[in-house]
This record gives sequence, C-alpha cells and structure tokens, in this order.
Amino acid sequence: MIVLGSTSEVAQAFVEKALQEGEKFEKIYLFTSNKETTERFATHIDVKFLQQSEVIELDLTKEIDYNRFDYVTSNVLFCAVGYLGEGTQEGLYDNRNTERIIDINYSKLVPLMNYFAHKFESRRSGTIIGLSSVAGDRGRQSNFIYGSAKAAFTAYLSGLRNYLFDKKVHVLTVKPGFMATKMTEGLPLNPKLTASPKQAAACIYKAFKKQRNVAYVLPVWSIIMMIIRNIPEFIFKKLKL
Ligand SMILES: NC(=O)c1ccc[n+]([C@@H]2O[C@H](COP(=O)([O-])OP(=O)(O)OC[C@H]3O[C@@H](n4cnc5c(N)ncnc54)[C@H](OP(=O)(O)O)[C@@H]3O)[C@@H](O)[C@H]2O)c1
Repeated sequence: MIVLGSTSEVAQAFVEKALQEGEKFEKIYLFTSNKETTERFATHIDVKFLQQSEVIELDLTKEIDYNRFDYVTSNVLFCAVGYLGEGTQEGLYDNRNTERIIDINYSKLVPLMNYFAHKFESRRSGTIIGLSSVAGDRGRQSNFIYGSAKAAFTAYLSGLRNYLFDKKVHVLTVKPGFMATKMTEGLPLNPKLTASPKQAAACIYKAFKKQRNVAYVLPVWSIIMMIIRNIPEFIFKKLKL
C-alpha cells in the first residue's frame, strides 16, 4: 500500500484496519513530511503485524524529484494529504496562506497523484482512495479557499475514476465531515457529527471493499450536504456558515 500523508490519524487507522482485516501488502510505503513521527508508526505496524514498511520523505511545498519513487509500486493508494490553513479574514488576505492551502490540497498534490495513477494504469489493477472534503461541496465564508481546493480535488478524483474505469483501476472519493484529528484540534465540533479516526477508517474500509465511488464519513453528512447544496443562492449568501 502507498500512503500519502502518513501522520494523519485517519491514514494510520485505515492501515491498521486493513491489516487487522487480513489484507496482504508486500510493503507499505509511508510518505510523510514528518519522518520522525512516521518512523514510530512504521515500527508499530512492523512489530504488531509483521509487516514490512518504508518511510519516504515528501514535502509538497518543496520541489519533488519523482525519480526517487521509481521503485514504489502497489495495488492500493491511500491519500490523506490535506491542509486546512487559516480561514480567517487575515488568512484570506495572506497570500502565503492561500498559496499553501491550494498547493498542498490540489496543485502540488495532483501531479503526484497522476504519477502514481500512471503506475496503476500500467498494472491495470488497484484502488486509489482520495480524501477530499464536504467543504468542497459548496463554498462557505469560513473556509472557502480550502473548500475550493477540495472541490477541485473532488472533480479531479471524479475525472480520474472515469478515465481509469476501463483500465480496471478503481477510484474512491472520500468526503469526510468533521473528524477529531490534529487538523481540527481546538475547533468546537458537534460530537454527534464528528467521527473518530477509527470510525472514519472503518467507514472508508467498508467503502473500499464495496468499491463505492463516493463515500461520506459519517453517512449523515450526505444528508446535511444535500440540504446545503440545495439552499437557494439568494438565501445562502446571507448565511454565516
Ligand atoms: N479532520 C477533519 O475534520 C476533516 C474534514 C474533512 C476532510 N478532511 C481531510 O481528511 C484528510 C486527513 O485529514 P486529517 O484530519 O487526518 O488531518 P491531518 O492529521 O492534518 O492530516 C493531513 C496530512 O496531510 C499531510 N500533509 C500536510 N502538509 C503536507 C505537506 N506539505 N507535504 C506533504 N504532506 C503534507 C500530513 O502528513 P505528514 O505529516 O505525514 O506529511 C498530514 O498528516 C485530509 O485530506 C483532510 O483535508 C479532514
């Protein structure tokens, strides 16, 4: 398995869930911008599941030398890369913040996804799982730079799924609502609408096994977003969301 964004607790919970369920991976490639923390996770799964894993440095804000990844191949790719950034007024007018959000969530991520998608296409098998967000379903004032990058990522995954369909590669788009992770630490999240990393991983694993195209974490978010998407614009623009 190839994991992008390996310090994500959701990514780690998914890896554990898959191994607990008896999935077999020749090797797990853990891509990360935080090598030290990921090394600890790698040791944990190597010991607990007798799994072979390798930690590979990846910082999407830096130039990427794709030659370094030539030997990396797998049947499952799990992309948990994401960056919330600052959704405040200061954040909005801070171009560095805006560029970082767009780069990490979309513009630097997509070439990397394409690089691996090409390998999957050549093998004519496998599943690519991309974590997007409900924030991409409709732009809201509190986080629309992040939301717009996620909307673009959702559209990318949709197109990739369509393109790879007759090449026998499946693409799963995951749209989490709230998840209690380091990304949302300190935010006032409604517990009834918030998934733990374990819950999210179980939900994603189920969607992976059922070869779903799009899956919400938790399912209640598909109803919430259906309502949000259908609020007429003349009302929506007045809301403080
Ligand atoms: N938490 C939520 O409520 C929520 C809601 C909707 C969608 N999502 C999405 O779900 C996914 C997982 O998020 P999470 O909640 O687990 O948050 P998270 O812990 O912040 O995970 C995001 C991961 O992105 C990777 N990343 C960040 N900057 C990077 C960079 N410059 N280069 C390479 N990788 C970078 C990091 O992995 P490394 O440290 O290993 O590099 C980080 O662990 C993300 O796509 C997020 O946008 C989360």
